[in-house]
Amino acid sequence: MVKDNRGRTLTDLRLSLTDRCNLRCTYCMPKEIFGSSHVFLKKSQWLEFSELDELVEAFIKLGVRKVRLTGGEPLLRPGVSSFIQRLKEIHKIDDVALTTNGVRLNKHAKSLKNAGLERITISLDALDPKIAGKMNGLGVSPKSTLAGIEAALDLGFIIKVNMVVEKGVNESQILPMAHYFKDRGVILRFIEFMDVGNHNKWSIERVVSGSEILNKMRSEFDVEPIDLSSSQEVAKRYRYLDGSCEFGLITSVTQTFCGNCTRARISADGKLFTCLFSNNGLDLKTFLRSKEYNKSKLLNFLSKHWLQRDDRYSELRSEIVKPGKKVEMSYIGG
Ligand code: GTP
Ligand code: 5AD
Ligand code: SF4
Ligand code: SF4
Repeated sequence: MVKDNRGRTLTDLRLSLTDRCNLRCTYCMPKEIFGSSHVFLKKSQWLEFSELDELVEAFIKLGVRKVRLTGGEPLLRPGVSSFIQRLKEIHKIDDVALTTNGVRLNKHAKSLKNAGLERITISLDALDPKIAGKMNGLGVSPKSTLAGIEAALDLGFIIKVNMVVEKGVNESQILPMAHYFKDRGVILRFIEFMDVGNHNKWSIERVVSGSEILNKMRSEFDVEPIDLSSSQEVAKRYRYLDGSCEFGLITSVTQTFCGNCTRARISADGKLFTCLFSNNGLDLKTFLRSKEYNKSKLLNFLSKHWLQRDDRYSELRSEIVKPGKKVEMSYIGG
């Protein structure tokens, strides 16, 4: 186990498998910036799966117990299912999760299930096709994602849906989304719109706070908080009193949770980031491919880096007058 400067243990590893995506969400990859002239990573720049295996082995020794595969859109990368199978069977990671926009999930659900995946998190911001299409930047209807969710539910997956809420854009969808997913036993999480990356024109006026969302939910449903005093989760969880299921609030802007931040992220080209808002990734690929590389040096390299970590961007947000250049979320994953 390795602890950082503030006593936080590294337990949660997020691997981005590609920076490409088949959507252009306005809050993540606005199409004006991520258009035809945007240069994505070349496939030849991606870490090989065998290199990811090497990294996962080392991170487990440092304390990692949970691995999330993200993107961009991870289902655009061939070989995801076989990698999941190795995470479960060879690396013995019990908690493997996948974050996807679900557009291709219908096609992939069976092979993900056969690989041993048990839970999937799907990004979807609206049921209304107009609002969803506006937020995903490409006018894509939620139909294919909803079909993917149905297929995954039929196969017995535990499903969470992440909904980024943006003022004046999709607030009207809070209650319809809650009803729809509650009826299906799907855990909906409302996420405060964040100032990740450099291009989403974030401002605090565009954030709908977790407490506003909770008030809206309470106007329609009887709910109570789930006691999370001993948990390190980012979501504040609530149960519906009718016993149907639960929902969550992720308040990364109005009620920060850096003190519990146990996450590290690796981009598809092998850079390690210890904060969503940082701009400096540690180049693991060059190290893995160097002559001096061996397993014990890798462990040293990683633990030294985590030991020095002092990240707490969200806590500092209101004091920062002009933020420096940040990493893009589509590059390191949600
Ligand atoms: P579970 O493993 O299902 O518990 O996932 P999770 O609760 O850790 O959440 P998930 O990975 O689905 O992340 C949901 C959203 O929370 C992300 O898309 C971000 O918007 C936000 N988020 C997650 N991790 C961080 C983090 O470390 N910092 C900040 N500021 N936001 C985060
Ligand atoms: N604010 C909050 N969450 C974001 N995500 C991407 N961009 C943002 C943002 N600006 C998260 C969403 C999405 C996941 C892939 O990344 O939760 O579901
Ligand atoms: Fe793609 Fe997810 Fe970013 Fe939307 S939030 S553009 S689905 S990576
Ligand atoms: Fe962790 Fe950085 Fe998010 Fe704080 S802002 S919770 S340190 S990733």
